[in-house]
Amino acid sequence: MQSTEDAKSNATGLEQSDNLLDHLSAETIDSTETIDKVDDTQQTHFGFKQVAKEQKESMVADVFHSVAAKYDVMNDLMSLGIHRIWKRYTIDCSGIRPGQKVLDLAGGTGDLAAKFSRIVGETGQVTLADINHSMLMVGKEKLTNMGILSNLNYVQANAEALPFPDNHFDLVTMAFGLRNVTEKSNALASIFRVLKPGGRLLVLEFSKPSSELLSKVYDTYSFHLLPKIGKLVANDAESYQYLAESIRMHPNQETLEGMMQDVGFEQTSFTNLTGGIVALHRGFKF
Ligand SMILES: C[S@@+](CC[C@H](N)C(=O)[O-])C[C@H]1O[C@@H](n2cnc3c(N)ncnc32)[C@H](O)[C@@H]1O
Repeated sequence: MQSTEDAKSNATGLEQSDNLLDHLSAETIDSTETIDKVDDTQQTHFGFKQVAKEQKESMVADVFHSVAAKYDVMNDLMSLGIHRIWKRYTIDCSGIRPGQKVLDLAGGTGDLAAKFSRIVGETGQVTLADINHSMLMVGKEKLTNMGILSNLNYVQANAEALPFPDNHFDLVTMAFGLRNVTEKSNALASIFRVLKPGGRLLVLEFSKPSSELLSKVYDTYSFHLLPKIGKLVANDAESYQYLAESIRMHPNQETLEGMMQDVGFEQTSFTNLTGGIVALHRGFKF
């Protein structure tokens, strides 16, 4: 499990972002040269592709740099606006109160962070953290234009090594972020460390549809229609092909619940939404 000392040495804040981006580019070059030599334990998946573990982070970064500007409009289009209902449900399950501290991890363009900022009020604090500078900048501009300023801060950080103290947050949310993380267990352990005792994790993520028929319809939509919409609206079919593939590679409901328990979460449970296309997982740190 990650210590506070490790956390202090990680990047904290946007001023670190240029260094991080330089670092990502350097890794891409190195890992391209060594990809043929790595064994299975050094490999992971990027959608359906096998890649070196060191390579995945920068490939995911490329996807989100590419989609950032059109991210919100694509979200509404692809889900026919249903992502707003999934997020509303997440907020309803958060149990959050005025004065509390929330980390919206992989928070991207800040839909959840905006809502939490209003709930925790002036005496509370919301941190919007994301590994990707472009997504964070789109989020910051959107939320600033909404007039949300005083209780919200922005941090560029990797979920696998969070730069926050132990036992700090009352709630951590991660919406549609976990499946992009290279070592998901490291991210879950890092989240566990920064939660206060009594704190709650909510993971909203694509999951496994509960019926065969829904699965077939959803596959047809994801692999045939989604990349075409991506091409048409964002001029980027590949990122949306990755989206469809990454959803299929993500652990199913029971596996993810087990992973949460393995790092120490208790009273874990999940709720399927839209027939299991998405699931909301909950877990507590005691
Ligand atoms: C699909 S977006 C979700 C954004 C937002 N939470 C929402 O629901 O609209 C996924 C986000 O995860 C971020 N992400 C990917 N890998 C990450 C990591 N290792 N640590 C932190 N954020 C990460 C991406 O940069 C991107 O902004």
